[in-house]
Amino acid sequence: MAQNAERLNTANAENTPAVSVRRLVRRFGIRTVLNGIDLEIRKGEFVALLGRSGSGKSTFLRALAGLDHDVVGEGQLHVPSSLSVVFQDARLLPWKRLIDNVTFGLTGLDAKGRAATALREVGLANRELSWPGELSGGEQQRVALARALVRNPALLLADEPFGALDALTRLRMHALLRRLCQHHQPAVLLVTHDVDEAIHLAQRILILDEGKLVRDLPVDLPEHSQEREHEIARIRRHLLQHLGVNADPIEAQTLADPVSGQISTEKNDATGEPPRHRAAA
Ligand SMILES: Nc1ncnc2c1ncn2[C@@H]1O[C@H](COP(=O)(O)OP(=O)(O)OP(=O)(O)O)[C@@H](O)[C@H]1O
Ligand SMILES: [Mg+2]
Repeated sequence: MAQNAERLNTANAENTPAVSVRRLVRRFGIRTVLNGIDLEIRKGEFVALLGRSGSGKSTFLRALAGLDHDVVGEGQLHVPSSLSVVFQDARLLPWKRLIDNVTFGLTGLDAKGRAATALREVGLANRELSWPGELSGGEQQRVALARALVRNPALLLADEPFGALDALTRLRMHALLRRLCQHHQPAVLLVTHDVDEAIHLAQRILILDEGKLVRDLPVDLPEHSQEREHEIARIRRHLLQHLGVNADPIEAQTLADPVSGQISTEKNDATGEPPRHRAAA
């Protein structure tokens, strides 16, 4: 009997999604930014979230991270207690060495040893005693990843973590994130403006628009390279169309970053014009 009960509990635990959100609403004054979001993310699943600038992606991520106490509870919001957040800027403490940045707030035995392992995982084994100010932007972001993953979170929330990096560094960071996720197996919600980043990293891609998740697209890329390219192009066209970007492949390619293929939905704040290599929303 006890054995049965134990088996049942284990089965339930495995089937329970990492994230479960029902009818999530967030208003700022009279403006409703999130208007009844429903979402489940399975344990270990990698989900990307796209949407025009101002569509509410960061607002949603902050609600999941528990950083927004004014989100209204018309529905449910279940997230694991062990979650980590990575932002576009690394947010390291400049007065602490790298090792101390990674151990900051870390409890349990051998925090230093675990932090050293995490720094090694992100390729910064010999930089433990460096100061954040001595690192490049990409290196700082790698420390932020180490700090996030040293806690072995069940959920990793990432808000445009590579948005400020150059195209080549971004590609390296994609490979690193993929490797780290294979190792640590967190559920991931990655907010990005980079359509190709979403296609290459995620198992599912969501689009947020007008306060709702209007697309939920599985990504299942074939092994064979030609079929794979074909499928990537198909998904890219589909996403761009729903993001309101001209989906013509030739034009999209011209507008994309020549190295990463990044097509942003952001506009240049000052001019209202699309930034170089980026398509307007
Ligand atoms: N604290 C706040 N008070 C009032 N309005 C807010 C607040 N935070 C966000 N908003 C508004 O909510 C909307 C969504 O903002 P959010 O930052 O979530 O967009 P986003 O999709 O992350 O955009 P981006 O892609 O540019 O980062 C915006 O119009 C923003 O002005
Ligand atoms: Mg944002």
